[in-house]
Amino acid sequence: MRDHHKSSRRSFLKKAGLATMAAPLMSFNPTHGGASHINPSNQDFDFSFLTDIHIRPDRDAPDGFQMAIDKVNKMNPDFVITGGDLVYDVMRGQFDKSDSLFKLYAEMSKSFKMPVYNCIGNHDLFGIYEESPEGPDHPDYKYGMWERYFGNTYYAFDHKGWHFITLNSLEVTPDKKYKGYYHKAQLEWLESHIQSVDKKTPIVITTHLPMVCVFTQINGGNPRTVSNAHEAFKILKDHNLKLILQGHIHWKEYGLANDVTHYITGGSIAGNGWKGRRHNTPEGFMSIRVKDDQFRWEYIDHGWEAERLRRAK
Ligand SMILES: [Fe+2]
Repeated sequence: MRDHHKSSRRSFLKKAGLATMAAPLMSFNPTHGGASHINPSNQDFDFSFLTDIHIRPDRDAPDGFQMAIDKVNKMNPDFVITGGDLVYDVMRGQFDKSDSLFKLYAEMSKSFKMPVYNCIGNHDLFGIYEESPEGPDHPDYKYGMWERYFGNTYYAFDHKGWHFITLNSLEVTPDKKYKGYYHKAQLEWLESHIQSVDKKTPIVITTHLPMVCVFTQINGGNPRTVSNAHEAFKILKDHNLKLILQGHIHWKEYGLANDVTHYITGGSIAGNGWKGRRHNTPEGFMSIRVKDDQFRWEYIDHGWEAERLRRAK
């Protein structure tokens, strides 16, 4: 299944077919600092957004993830952004098992032929649950294991005149559960960092728990968004926050707030724990095509559903 959305009335989808990309990599420098400037050349580019990979050694998950990697490599975007829940799962601790999951993800993601910018999800928080044999005194606790493999959990980078910010949307409650929250140190960083970004520069935020999502409005239940997302919006209010890429829900959602900020909840690679669709959303990922200060998106079915059903026969 494929669909796409034109993000402005100015269609830039070429009638004769999509232009090939394979543009050389301009930047790969995630940092907590650094300035952003609009690139006057305004080169077009593509990137892929893969979320909720939930890698595990069983349930054919490595085969499914590899199919997604192969599809991305074939499409050859400039880079990949992931949306968190890279592994399933390390919240319950057990160091050896948990470390082997991160190792599996890190090894497999080496076969992407382009840079990968990772995001942290709730399932990536090491040892936070009550039942975990490891606790806060473990060096890999909470963000520690993710940081050991991938570095800072929040950072920014520039690419061809666009500015990308990955946020850490997770905190742990006193009763040892996760919650969607942008902690104070991160918001302070965002506030000072954004001063160096030109107000016209299109900004893309990646966050595992959504900043904006209609799931609960439709389905009821507890909120599944970042409870203080408004604080991040406030910090960015005078900037050109163009797009928010979100995970966690395992469903596909697109919206546009007040003609300014688009938000996409990007389905999932894992579906329902690798056993089928979650919320009737097939396994897949987002392909984003950028032109000047506009973009369009397309949800890519990398073929896993068909393969999964074939194997189930
Ligand atoms: Fe997930």
